[in-house]
Amino acid sequence: MIRSRPTPHFVLLPRFFLGLALITPLAAAVDFVHEVVPILKQHCAECHADSKQKGGLSFNTEESFRKGSKNGPIIDAEHPEKSLLLKLIASDDEDERMPPKGKGLDAKEIEIVRAWVLGGAKWEPGFAFKKPAYEPPLRPRDPALPMAVGERSNPLDRITDHYLAEKKSPGPAPLDDVAFLRRVHLDLVGLLPDVEELHRFLADAAADKRARVVDGLLANKTAYAEHWLSFWNDLLRNDYAGTGYIDGGRKQISGWLYQALRDNMPYDQFVRELVAPSPATEGFANGIKWRGSISAAQIPPMQYAQSVGQAFLGINLKCASCHDSFVDRWKLSESYGLAAIFSDVPLEIFRCDKPTGKTAVPGWLFPELGSVDASLPRAERLKQLAALITDPQNGRTPRTITNRLWQRLMGRGIVHPVDAMQSAPWSEDLLDYLGTHLAANHHDLKQTLRLICLSQAYQSKTESLAGQPQESSYVYQGPRPKRLTAEELTDAIWQICGTAPAKFDAPVSRDAGGEGAAAKPPMVRAALLQCDLLMRTLGRPNREQIVTTRPLDLTTLEAMDLNNGAILDGRLAEGAQALVARKFASPAALATYVWQAALSRDPTAEELQAAVGLLGEPPQAAATQDLLWGVLMLPEFQIIR
Ligand code: HEC
Ligand code: HEC
Repeated sequence: MIRSRPTPHFVLLPRFFLGLALITPLAAAVDFVHEVVPILKQHCAECHADSKQKGGLSFNTEESFRKGSKNGPIIDAEHPEKSLLLKLIASDDEDERMPPKGKGLDAKEIEIVRAWVLGGAKWEPGFAFKKPAYEPPLRPRDPALPMAVGERSNPLDRITDHYLAEKKSPGPAPLDDVAFLRRVHLDLVGLLPDVEELHRFLADAAADKRARVVDGLLANKTAYAEHWLSFWNDLLRNDYAGTGYIDGGRKQISGWLYQALRDNMPYDQFVRELVAPSPATEGFANGIKWRGSISAAQIPPMQYAQSVGQAFLGINLKCASCHDSFVDRWKLSESYGLAAIFSDVPLEIFRCDKPTGKTAVPGWLFPELGSVDASLPRAERLKQLAALITDPQNGRTPRTITNRLWQRLMGRGIVHPVDAMQSAPWSEDLLDYLGTHLAANHHDLKQTLRLICLSQAYQSKTESLAGQPQESSYVYQGPRPKRLTAEELTDAIWQICGTAPAKFDAPVSRDAGGEGAAAKPPMVRAALLQCDLLMRTLGRPNREQIVTTRPLDLTTLEAMDLNNGAILDGRLAEGAQALVARKFASPAALATYVWQAALSRDPTAEELQAAVGLLGEPPQAAATQDLLWGVLMLPEFQIIR
């Protein structure tokens, strides 16, 4: 149980923060495409889809749906139960009910739409009643760079500055040193800057000091690997425990992955080793052998097609695993073609779980780049596929990964969501430049990260989300604020208090890199541990599915309110004891340390006074725990700005 805490008065949570917690959907998930879409098609499409937009309302795309009718949005984001959409479908008034003719929706249909709206009216990314005509280019392209504005010569700035000028936007303001140091540490190695480094950095007057920080962080192999491990574990659905690991239905790739990150393996080689696997990497390709009866869409070769398509090409083959996709151009036969490359045996095509009598022909998604020879043995076919995915003429692979890295650092993809690589980017030049730059730099992902971190675009203040309520009509205005991930928050507590565990779960060799045997081993990181309830609540996924974006709409604050607050409480109690044992010279010194370590700044006079009052003299563990709690609750701590 969380005991109720005195709320120190410096904890002033802005309203938006509480608001976010309240709108987090708790309603049971409704399958939008299979439950809601059929209802809209049957009862509404006649007047609100395709070329029809009665009342100015079109359900064609997520964008048009969110825009609403001539009177504005039909979903009330703050009070979904008051949405016009729900009012109209359930209305008894013949003059206002939708649909206006016929008998209208029955009670069950109304319930489904209602549950969907209360759950946030989530749209399947990329789904449209009328399929979009956009087809992204496949080949790489080296865009001509616009003139630099003043000193802003980083290629990414040349592109974004030009974009902003076209949009007549002033662009974001520059980021100060403290915010930069905190952000770049969290983004590149997932840790807070320590207090000494902060002081050194602030005192440094050299013009290249930010570049030196970026290079130093990227050179820290262990910290880099242990931070990005979470990103890759999510993307490759790798974990240390969970479904299938005990009964042999699943295999880890942790040892290989960890070493590949430490060694900064070139990305093309990395992809080839996963697509045409060895015993060390086959855990990814083999997927999960589910127990019991499974749908034809879940057999291991189909999982392979789905995983390879999604992870490396940003292609959604899940929606083309039972029928031709309704989201984009991929066909059932194409998913089976990719699956058949992997399959040991001829694969019969099933449509919606019913056999079709047709056998899949091994084939790959972009025949314009070459093909896979179906007559070759499996291992050879997989090698051919790996070569096609990493072919220099295949611009899709570098675009997909650099878009993911841009999203991680900047808070939103150039193509968004990041798995919908079939859809249009907000800047083709930026996307194409990043892809070409990666290929030109030996597929070294650290070079991409470096390029982004050194841009003024990255070194800018985050935009205020208030200016962009509609996700679907996005205009780039600078980086977006991000929430600390489950691992970052856990590591931060251990870092501040010095209470990281000594043991970890991941079967990896931490000292294989030889960064000096004499050096003190670095802190054990949350990424190396099995998931606990706290991390789960904070958004660390269970990794049975590929996850490419951690949830943004779940606030830490809410997580702490849930009944697993005990883990956090225990961790803070332990942390408080460790801090008390350090015997700071005074309560003010302890408070100042906590502020500097957690927030990279000194407390204000008012904060210091409140903290000292709370701590008492000498500070006891319980009061110190309350102080930690108060500071960790601050949005300033939890949000990377
Ligand atoms: C037969 C044609 C028709 C069908 C079918 C139909 N609508 Fe409408 N809808 C209209 C017209 C006409 C208007 C404009 C009414 C007006 O301007 O007063 C409208 C307007 C609306 C509006 C906007 C109202 C406003 O005040 O802005 C909503 C919301 C709406 N429809 C939802 C639906 C939904 C949901 C369905 C299916 C369950 C549906 N409609 C089916 C014809 C239709
Ligand atoms: C496990 C199998 C399966 C998967 C995976 C699947 N669907 Fe379906 N889908 C079905 C079945 C069964 C139907 C029923 C209609 C039919 O026979 O075509 C259907 C129908 C549809 C329809 C037509 C609804 C209508 O009545 O107009 C849409 C749209 C659709 N699916 C979208 C998707 C999308 C988007 C995805 C990926 C998120 C997806 N499906 C994944 C099985 C599946």
